[in-house]
Amino acid sequence: MIRQLDHVAIAVPNLDEAVPFYRDVLGLPFLYFEEVTDQKVRVACFDLGGMRLELLQPSSEDSPISKFLAQRGPGLHHLAFRSDDVASELERVRGHGVRLIDESPRSGAGGMQIAFLHPKSTQGVLMELTQPGEHVE
Ligand code: CO
Repeated sequence: MIRQLDHVAIAVPNLDEAVPFYRDVLGLPFLYFEEVTDQKVRVACFDLGGMRLELLQPSSEDSPISKFLAQRGPGLHHLAFRSDDVASELERVRGHGVRLIDESPRSGAGGMQIAFLHPKSTQGVLMELTQPGEHVE
């Protein structure tokens, strides 16, 4: 079951230019930087009281975020909903004909289990399901 919004992710070309706006102008509490190598992004995380705002900067030319920025420019990249069971949620939405990017959950940042739903099935917004992980070895 989907419980709450987990994070909002915004694609930016440059974290050094984007972070001061969110931290200093909006005054959001900055949490940490993180490098997610398998998704080829650098992430800046802010606390929004039980959920996070993430700024995503591509860390290489072939990053999915590079492609997104080239096609659409900076802006909302995805919404992530927290579920208590991503695998069964995927099965459930698949049963409704939803197109999946990830056929099964995979490991994301911070030990989360994650899976993406295709924006063609979600009214145009890329959606991620997250589940706080026990690490499966
Ligand atoms: Co995300």
